[in-house]
Amino acid sequence: MKVGILGSGDVAKALATGFVKHGHQVTLGTRDSGKLKDFVAQHLGAQAGSFADAAKFGEVVVLAVKGNVALDALEAAGATNLAGKPVIDATNPIADAPPTNGVLKFFTNLDQSLMEQLQSAFPDVHFVKAYNSVGNARMINPEFPGGAKPTMFICGNDDKAKAVVRSINDQFGWETADMGKAEAARAIEPLCILWCIQGFTKDEWTHAFKLLHKA
Ligand SMILES: NC(=O)c1ccc[n+]([C@@H]2O[C@H](COP(=O)([O-])OP(=O)(O)OC[C@H]3O[C@@H](n4cnc5c(N)ncnc54)[C@H](OP(=O)(O)O)[C@@H]3O)[C@@H](O)[C@H]2O)c1
Repeated sequence: MKVGILGSGDVAKALATGFVKHGHQVTLGTRDSGKLKDFVAQHLGAQAGSFADAAKFGEVVVLAVKGNVALDALEAAGATNLAGKPVIDATNPIADAPPTNGVLKFFTNLDQSLMEQLQSAFPDVHFVKAYNSVGNARMINPEFPGGAKPTMFICGNDDKAKAVVRSINDQFGWETADMGKAEAARAIEPLCILWCIQGFTKDEWTHAFKLLHKA
C-alpha cells in the first residue's frame, strides 16, 4: 500500500516505521522536508515531501499533526488530493495549557470532537479516528504480558475506510473495537486524557487500553 503521512513528529515517524516494516511505501508530509533527511536515509521505503505530496501519494493517509493545526495541515494537503481516501486521524484536540493534576485540557467539548470538525470541513474525506490514545512508542506490534492484544478504538462514517484501518490494526498487533460513526470521536478523543494521566502522575507511558468481553 502507498501511505501518505501528514506530519514529521513522533507519531508520524512511529507509524511510518510500522508501515515500512510491514512492506508498505510511505511519504511523510511536512512544511520542511529537510528535518526528515536522516529518518528517510534510515528507513528504506520512506520518503519526505510537502503535505500535498504526501496526500497525493497515499492511497491511505494518516493525519499526525498538532490538533490545533489539523485544519491548516489538511488545507495544505489539499481537499482534492484527499477526497475519497481513508484518512487515519491520530490527532488530539489538546489545548495550549498545562494539565491540572495530570489531566489535559481540550479545546473541544463533549458535544463536538475535533474529528467531527475535520469531517465537516472536508466532507469528501473518509476520516477514521485511530492511534490517538496510545503513546507512539507502543503503536506498532506492542508486547504485553501473556501476549494480550490491546484494543484500538476506532470510528468514522465510511465502512470501507474503517475496513482498511482494521486491516492495518491487524498488521500492527491491535484488535479493533469499532465504536460507530464520527460522533463516537467525542468519546475516543478523551481516552487520550485518561491515557496521559498515568504518564503525568506516575511517569508510566507504556500502557494501552483493552476492552474485555464476556466469553
Ligand atoms: N506523541 C504521542 O505519543 C501521541 C500519541 C497519540 C496521539 N498523538 C497526537 O498525534 C498528533 C501528533 O503528535 P506528535 O507528538 O507526533 O507531534 P506534534 O508535536 O503534536 O505535531 C507535530 C506536527 O505538527 C505540525 N505542525 C505544527 N504547526 C503547524 C502549522 N502551523 N501548520 C501545519 N502543521 C503544523 C508539524 O509540521 P512540520 O512537520 O511542518 O513542522 C509536525 O508535523 C497530535 O495531535 C497528538 O495529540 C500523539
